[in-house]
Amino acid sequence: MPIRREFSPRSLNAEALNEGRVDSHYTKVLLRLLAAHAMAEKLTAIGYQRALEWLDNPDLRPIVEKNFAEEKKHARLIYDALEELGVSQQAADRSMVMVLKAPSFDAPSYFASKAEGELDLLMASLSLDTTGLIMIGENYKESSYAPHARAAEIILDEEADHEIFASRHLADAVDRFGVQSVNTALRRWIPRAVNFFGPPGSGFTYDCIRYGLKSRDNQELADLYVTMLSRRCDQLGLEMPALTASYPHALA
Ligand SMILES: [Fe+2]
Ligand SMILES: [Fe+2]
Repeated sequence: MPIRREFSPRSLNAEALNEGRVDSHYTKVLLRLLAAHAMAEKLTAIGYQRALEWLDNPDLRPIVEKNFAEEKKHARLIYDALEELGVSQQAADRSMVMVLKAPSFDAPSYFASKAEGELDLLMASLSLDTTGLIMIGENYKESSYAPHARAAEIILDEEADHEIFASRHLADAVDRFGVQSVNTALRRWIPRAVNFFGPPGSGFTYDCIRYGLKSRDNQELADLYVTMLSRRCDQLGLEMPALTASYPHALA
């Protein structure tokens, strides 16, 4: 049975929450969602920043510089929304310490701290920008919390560009590195990318959907991503790795 949505898109703002006009549990759920979103954007920004330290390909540098600047801006937008609700960036990040160790944060954490080389950079973009586009487009654009919906709209425009980068360069990567190397890279990254959507049917997501903070379950979005990427792999003669059925997904 579909979950009944209690608040319509863009129906609430910071004032309503700060004045206590809404159930305090709504605010609690929203703060957790925003803190996770901000952290994902921040780690993605750090990943692109790190890539600039070693990247010498003159064709890629301007794109990575642009992505870095935009991801930094995305993080800022969400941290500003948190600030408006009385939560500092520090406090928001502190609330994420445990979550950062979860499989759902493996992709952004790996990109921010360990990814190396152009193939990894491309895989990170496929794992973070393509997934981000789905999550933000499907879930946050219609958020009942108006400031999150507005930020999502701005982010979406730019994520669409990052997505073009990821898909175009997947084809280039096949030409430059060969099918086998790209297949190996996909096997390393795709489990992480799919786990980025988070566990299916969680109590937290139930609350998010009920409050109108998300529209779809993580599983639906993960399925959408797998379908999209499988099609792209087919077109390029690549092998989409098979994954285990339950979260956290691993290679099957
Ligand atoms: Fe972003
Ligand atoms: Fe992005």
